Amino acid sequence: MTKLFIKTNRTLSAVLSKYKYSTAAKSIALVDIKGKEFVSDDYTNITPKIISYLGKNLHMQKNNPLSIVRQRIVNYFYSSFTQRGAPAFSIYDNLSPIVTTKQNFDDLLIPSNHPSRAKSDCYYINRGNLLRAHMTAHQSELLRSGLDNFLMIGDVYRRDEIDSTHFPVFHQVDGVRSQRKEELFPGQPDLEIFEPNYDKKNPHTFVNSIKDPMKQSCHTLEATKLMETQLKTHLISLTQVLFGESIKYRWVEEYFPFTHPSWELEIFYDNKWMEILGCGIVRNEILVNAGPTNSIAYAFGLGLERLAMALYKIPDIRLMWSTDSGFLTQFQNIDLNESVTYKPVSSYPQCINDMSFWLPENLTIDTFVSNDFYDLVRDIGGDIIEQVRLKDKFVHPKTKKHSLCYSIVYRHLERTLTQAEVNEVHKVIEKAVVDTFGVAMR
Ligand code: DAH
Repeated sequence: MTKLFIKTNRTLSAVLSKYKYSTAAKSIALVDIKGKEFVSDDYTNITPKIISYLGKNLHMQKNNPLSIVRQRIVNYFYSSFTQRGAPAFSIYDNLSPIVTTKQNFDDLLIPSNHPSRAKSDCYYINRGNLLRAHMTAHQSELLRSGLDNFLMIGDVYRRDEIDSTHFPVFHQVDGVRSQRKEELFPGQPDLEIFEPNYDKKNPHTFVNSIKDPMKQSCHTLEATKLMETQLKTHLISLTQVLFGESIKYRWVEEYFPFTHPSWELEIFYDNKWMEILGCGIVRNEILVNAGPTNSIAYAFGLGLERLAMALYKIPDIRLMWSTDSGFLTQFQNIDLNESVTYKPVSSYPQCINDMSFWLPENLTIDTFVSNDFYDLVRDIGGDIIEQVRLKDKFVHPKTKKHSLCYSIVYRHLERTLTQAEVNEVHKVIEKAVVDTFGVAMR
């Protein structure tokens, strides 16, 4: 089991000697993920470190700030939408993060050449399976099972930069609300969801266009506008429940392959605009492929880490994974709506070591995949890696050789690291970088 915060009674070198770095995923035929075996292929890029996060379910852990925000969001939906006295939304917070490319992309009409499918952005188990990159991956299967109002809550996995707000695993709440004509327009039988030329009996014959920025061609403007108003009103109320009535916000038009029209909601926090959710009217093709041909739906997806970090002023995303009582007790037995400001347990100093290397002839500063580098650094350094930033790029004027320099910022969240132990980790990373990418250290 990988420890997220290496305990003070174990030295880093003890941990490093136990951790035999291997490019395992590349050389073995089978990948074992929580007892389930998958055949690896040229898409396999999931690492043992990433596999170790599966099943942690921080969003369900008592006293974890992510769990507190989750409960507040669920409570909002429970109390705002009822059907004959019972909550109208069903909650799915225990769906397996292992999904197919069909679930994560195809079912959501994400084009085959869309950048979000890139190997450099996702953790692939093999060509057909990956760790979900968003909770929207479950939308179609839940619609297919006959649900119309539901929330999907869980951990999602993306390859990204390393800094105080990015971690390869984070948590999302995604939701769908669908309505039929009688629900959307009660007592107004002459109002329609669909344009007259859309044939509900043969929906596949209709070519649904998204050229009009206001609406999908199958929908009436009345239905789209009413759904948009309901969607925005609810998401603003939820934001105000979380952050208070006076929170400053704005809507930004967006594009998502699975909704049209689409928007993002930004709040003004810490002197800048911060995006907290995406949403829109679900593309009718998705509903039709999953079953319902006579309803319209809106959908949205929120990131829990961003909300929790802003609400409780948590400065580093790695803290969400802390098992330290100095962190967790600050969120223990609090009233869900209580305003809590995280007090740093203490701030230990950073150590910054640079790493510069010449790229081999087959790579240039533009083709070198920095996410591969970040994963390798994190695989070895673990969570003492606070940040990795590109410091310098250089092409030698004579030899035309390409060189990169990264700064690796090391900081333990729970104790002071000595420069000597950091140097030791840094050396192991250097060796792995040389072995993996064929670079030459400068
Ligand atoms: N899946 C999107 C993401 O991870 C967020 C999102 C946008 C979810 C629009 C939705 C939606 O359900 O309708 O960035």
